[in-house]
Amino acid sequence: MTDAFAIDGQLLAGPDGDARWNNLGDWREADDYTAACGALARLHGETAALAPGQRVLELACGHGAAVEIWRREFQAGPITALDIRSHCIAGLRTAPPVDRLTVAEGRFDRPLPAPLAGQLFDAVLCVDAAYHADSIDAFLETAARALVPGGRLAFTTLIRTSEDALRLGLRGGARRMALRMASVPPASLVSETALRSAAAAQGLEVLELRDLTPRVFPGFAAWVGRREGELSWRRRLSPAWLKLAVTARLCLQLHASKQTAYVLVSIRRADGAPAPLFR
Ligand SMILES: C[S@@+](CC[C@H](N)C(=O)[O-])C[C@H]1O[C@@H](n2cnc3c(N)ncnc32)[C@H](O)[C@@H]1O
Repeated sequence: MTDAFAIDGQLLAGPDGDARWNNLGDWREADDYTAACGALARLHGETAALAPGQRVLELACGHGAAVEIWRREFQAGPITALDIRSHCIAGLRTAPPVDRLTVAEGRFDRPLPAPLAGQLFDAVLCVDAAYHADSIDAFLETAARALVPGGRLAFTTLIRTSEDALRLGLRGGARRMALRMASVPPASLVSETALRSAAAAQGLEVLELRDLTPRVFPGFAAWVGRREGELSWRRRLSPAWLKLAVTARLCLQLHASKQTAYVLVSIRRADGAPAPLFR
């Protein structure tokens, strides 16, 4: 189950890149994968208005490359990082990239595991992963419970821009199948309206929903195309590469269809809102 998220980071990043990254990247100013991934993470930190000394929780940290950005560029205080993949967490435990880092294996769409349960954070960040949640409601519930009143949440996800878009026609069927293969459960891919009401139900105020589609999808697909040209035919036929090629193709399809957008969501937990109880 958790192997669904495995990718060959070195194959994607290239010999000179940082193989720890595993996101679609912000390609507005970047021209290589490592820079694009760092830029996307940085945008989350800026969106959450991360400030020195703040307690940060990163959900779906992967191999932890962004943890260095929270500390080095924003001087964040104690950092806690969670991922569903045990080998990512084991790696971070063995070789923590920064000091005052707590890591935990677990899901972001369930109550947080010990020692995170009941802890509160000034900022919760989740880079390019919320669309993997069982549902957007469950993801927001976890994030809301972890935030102090007035705390900030920044995450990127996919939203449906047309209510019927993924249900109609043959192309819709193929896209739905591709999304399932990419581990995007239907209940995590909702409209903007549904996302806003799911947030409100958790005492969360959506400050901004920013469409990043043009600076994410085409850039990732172009990078995969560029890397493909650098690989031997043997590597191009490997399952690890085919998985990346399918993801790039899905990005192009989603971009062309204009029915799914890649958005950065900026949220603030309402002052004094009681932490919602899990259902
Ligand atoms: C596209 S990667 C992004 C990784 C990292 N944020 C980065 O920028 O490199 C998606 C991550 O989400 C994690 N993930 C998927 N489903 C999850 C869940 N239900 N709970 C926690 N983490 C999850 C995967 O293990 C993977 O590390």
